[in-house]
This record gives sequence, C-alpha cells and structure tokens, in this order.
Amino acid sequence: MHTDSLLVVENLSVSRSKKVVLDKVSLTIKRGEFVGLVGPNGGGKTTFLLTILGILKSNQGHVEFYGTRTPSNSILRKLGWVSQHASNIPKNVKLTVRELVQLGTLNSGNMFWRYNADQNARVDRAIRQADLQDVQSRSIHTLSGGQRQRAVIARVLASEAEFIILDEPLVGVDRNSRNYLLKFLDRLCHESQKTILMVSHDIAAIQRTSHRMIYLEERIRYDGASDCFPSLDELANLRGLERIHESVGIGEKLYQLKDTAEK
Ligand SMILES: Nc1ncnc2c1ncn2[C@@H]1O[C@H](COP(=O)(O)OP(=O)(O)OP(=O)(O)O)[C@@H](O)[C@H]1O
Ligand SMILES: [Mg+2]
Repeated sequence: MHTDSLLVVENLSVSRSKKVVLDKVSLTIKRGEFVGLVGPNGGGKTTFLLTILGILKSNQGHVEFYGTRTPSNSILRKLGWVSQHASNIPKNVKLTVRELVQLGTLNSGNMFWRYNADQNARVDRAIRQADLQDVQSRSIHTLSGGQRQRAVIARVLASEAEFIILDEPLVGVDRNSRNYLLKFLDRLCHESQKTILMVSHDIAAIQRTSHRMIYLEERIRYDGASDCFPSLDELANLRGLERIHESVGIGEKLYQLKDTAEK
C-alpha cells in the first residue's frame, strides 16, 4: 500500500499509575520528514513512543501506521525502533560491531540459517552508511558513545527499516560526536529517504537538524517548522507558566549594566 502519511495519531490519551500522561494527542508524520519531539522531563515523550509502538495501552484514540490500525509483519518491518537504552549493552554481552548490525537482518523466517549474501550486503551497506568500516571487528564495548549510537542505528538500517524512531540518541555523546551523529541522521533523511522521529532534550541541536518540532507536555504545545520554534518566553506562555519576577525594562537593564561597569 502506498501512502504518504506513515503515522497518523488521533486523540491519543494515556494514563500511567492513574495519572494522565498524554491527553488527546493528535499528529501526522509524512514520508521524508525529520521530526524532533521535545518537552520537559516526564512530559510524556517516551510514553508516546511506547504507545504508538503498541508496547503501552491507550485509554482512548487510535494509531495508524502506513494507513492501517492493524499493521502486518511487513509493515512492522518498515519501523526501526532505537530505544533510550539501546546503546547501553551489558558488559557481559560479547559482540563485535558487525555482529550487532547483523542482528538487524534476523527475522522469524531466517533465524536458524547462516547469513546469506543478501543479508551480508545489507550489513555492509549499513556499516558503510554509519561510517563504521574501520571498527566493525571491534567489540562494541571499545567504542565511544557516538560510535555505539551509530552502531545501534546501523542495526535498524540493516533491517531495511524506512521509518526510524529514536528516543534520546544524543545522551552520553560528546559535542563533536553529537554533530557527527546529527549529520549522519540528516544524510539518512535526505540521501537514503528515511523518515525520522527523534526524541531529544537538546532543543538547540534538534532545531538545527529537524524540519519540524513538536513540544509535548501532556498535550501538544507546539507543532510546526523548526525555524519558527517559540522563544523561551513564548514557550513559557504556551506551557501556561506564570512569570514569578517582574520583567526588567530595557532602560533599567542598560542602567544596571552601566552601573556594574563603573564599579
Ligand atoms: N513505568 C512507569 N510507571 C508509572 N508511571 C510512569 C512510568 N514511567 C513513566 N511514568 C510516568 O509517566 C510520565 C511521563 O513519563 P515519560 O517517561 O513518558 O516522560 P519523558 O517525556 O520521556 O521524560 P524524560 O525526558 O525524563 O525521558 C511521568 O509522570 C512519569 O513519572
Ligand atoms: Mg523519556
């Protein structure tokens, strides 16, 4: 089935421990978009992802992937999920980078067979896309945070997923590797025609990379072009936060600066 709306969410409400976490959330993600999902701690971002993926149950509303509420296995294979803890691989799991990426090619039909030529070609391509050729024989535990994050993304690329959903992939990644990882995701979107939905706390980084941003705090407070993302003041108004201190006028601010400079 060909549809441009890969994900349609309508009126989704979810409670956890009897507390409403998501309240009537509706959104659509179209093929080729790079969407940044941001919001405060506990705002419901992970809950949203787990619910659309069918891991948590909703109280009301519905979710469609590729135009259907009951996705077949072939539709589910188009989804690549990189969870918040995907790159925290326990130390006792001995895997090379290549072996980790190979896992992405396994499904219930080929699990007990040797990797065939098609699977090996997909693994080679994913490793190349993630620029991990030089470290593919190394243990995943010897990689930097950024390399390990690219390796878990390469695993979903090897599965040939086209809609990639990531929860906080920038956590534990230093600034240079963060830029590299964001460029990699940008290339996946523009050169490899992947659709990306990415949760991050780093609003500045995600604004520079994504096309569209969604601010989620129980409800959607902003959904629009990344370039038009609200200022801190506008965001506070959208979130219903009151100003605690009187604002300082520009004249008074200049006076304070001058006063400090003269001391
Ligand atoms: N396992 C759980 N059981 C009960 N309530 C939970 C559970 N996990 C999260 N919650 C609650 O659900 C709400 C939303 O949490 P969620 O993890 O979805 O937020 P988040 O936006 O992903 O936050 P963060 O930015 O910290 O990752 C919070 O109030 C949280 O306390
Ligand atoms: Mg979370």
